[in-house]
Amino acid sequence: MKVSVFRRAHFNAAHRLHNPAWSDEQNRAVFGLCNNPNWHGHNYEMEVKVTGDIDPETGMVVDLGWLSTLIREQVENRFDHQNLNLDTEEFRDLNPTAENICVVIWQILRPCLPERYDLQVRLYETPRNFVEYPG
Ligand code: NI
Repeated sequence: MKVSVFRRAHFNAAHRLHNPAWSDEQNRAVFGLCNNPNWHGHNYEMEVKVTGDIDPETGMVVDLGWLSTLIREQVENRFDHQNLNLDTEEFRDLNPTAENICVVIWQILRPCLPERYDLQVRLYETPRNFVEYPG
């Protein structure tokens, strides 16, 4: 009997989407406002979904206090109020699209969780634009 537990978290960060192999025109055409050379920010919202069996002793799948601390220490502290392109190792050479940020968050969290859990990450770049990585 698998049950999923969700934790929402939040960070603000600046970025620029840019492919250095392309012309300025092509970058603007593909990435639009997110190609602005002087950066811009997003209010990123993420949903971390942990699926597993209910522990008969606790009645819980995972301790949400532990999960929220993990997300804060591993993700929020790393990315909040940072320029993703300039300030983070993860996006030095990786375009910080919502898709790539979502996968990076999953890759950061996965080794921190016991293997018995399934992990899924959803990332909202705006309330209407969001991506999900099921691992
Ligand atoms: Ni953007």
